[in-house]
Amino acid sequence: MTRRTLQRGKNVPGSGDLRVRLATADDEIPLQSLLSLAGYKLEQAQLDTLRTNKLATAITAGLDAASAGNATPVAEGLMTGLAREASSGPEEVHHCLMATTLPLVAIDRNGAVVGASWSEPPERVIQALITELGTTGSDAMEIYLRGCIGVSRFSAVAVDPSVRGQGLGATLVRTTTKVLRQIGLRDIYGQIRESDQLERFYEQLGFAVLAPGQPLDLSAVFGVARGPVPAPGERLFHRSLSPIT
Ligand SMILES: CC(C)(COP(=O)(O)OP(=O)(O)OC[C@H]1O[C@@H](n2cnc3c(N)ncnc32)[C@H](O)[C@@H]1OP(=O)(O)O)[C@@H](O)C(=O)NCCC(=O)NCCS
Repeated sequence: MTRRTLQRGKNVPGSGDLRVRLATADDEIPLQSLLSLAGYKLEQAQLDTLRTNKLATAITAGLDAASAGNATPVAEGLMTGLAREASSGPEEVHHCLMATTLPLVAIDRNGAVVGASWSEPPERVIQALITELGTTGSDAMEIYLRGCIGVSRFSAVAVDPSVRGQGLGATLVRTTTKVLRQIGLRDIYGQIRESDQLERFYEQLGFAVLAPGQPLDLSAVFGVARGPVPAPGERLFHRSLSPIT
């Protein structure tokens, strides 16, 4: 996958004219309403960044670096962006989170947005770890960077009811994992309600659905045995993105 393919879109296999591409500011309204079908509401900082087309900048830079054969594409993409912004403190954290957020939309033959997904760094897990370790300043920033270049939280996927069952949901998940693997992330995970009965959907896509209450160990990302813990009544699903050897 190249930056150009991600931005222009890739056809969904066997679906005719449906395609999946990176979301832009113009997709804001349908994107929000689709994500709300999955119970996900965008926060103001996410919306503001979407409106300026500044989401996923480290991801697209990472795809360029991957095409050029760089060994750590997302890290390079992120560092380039951080250096360009020449900021510090809260702006750096904000840039780190937004630049590694991957919003996708599915488009029909008329250009209408009929599906959406959202994958982002696990901000709460990162913040909890920083608080627990009592880390501040550049040490805290290092934990943010480790999180942003190491792991993504697949927060939501939703497809318009009129086009469900045509492989769009699966393509949104597959495209996300493909891009994140290509730029060198280690892990992707998400959370489902036990009542959603989505185990099969994610298992078919190569994820392991963990037992109710079972936490995920992200020590390979953070260097300490910490990670997300499912809320009551929820289960985590997880997939390692390490290159298949
Ligand atoms: C879940 C959702 C995104 C699936 O989208 P979709 O485009 O219909 O899914 P696909 O056509 O790609 O289905 C892929 C496979 O998963 C299966 N699948 C799809 N939805 C499923 C569900 N709710 N439960 C179990 N399996 C499901 C399909 O049967 C298909 O299997 P097959 O290949 O053996 O036929 C869609 O039903 C939706 O938008 N639901 C509402 C929002 C939601 O609950 N999102 C998930 C939580 S974030």
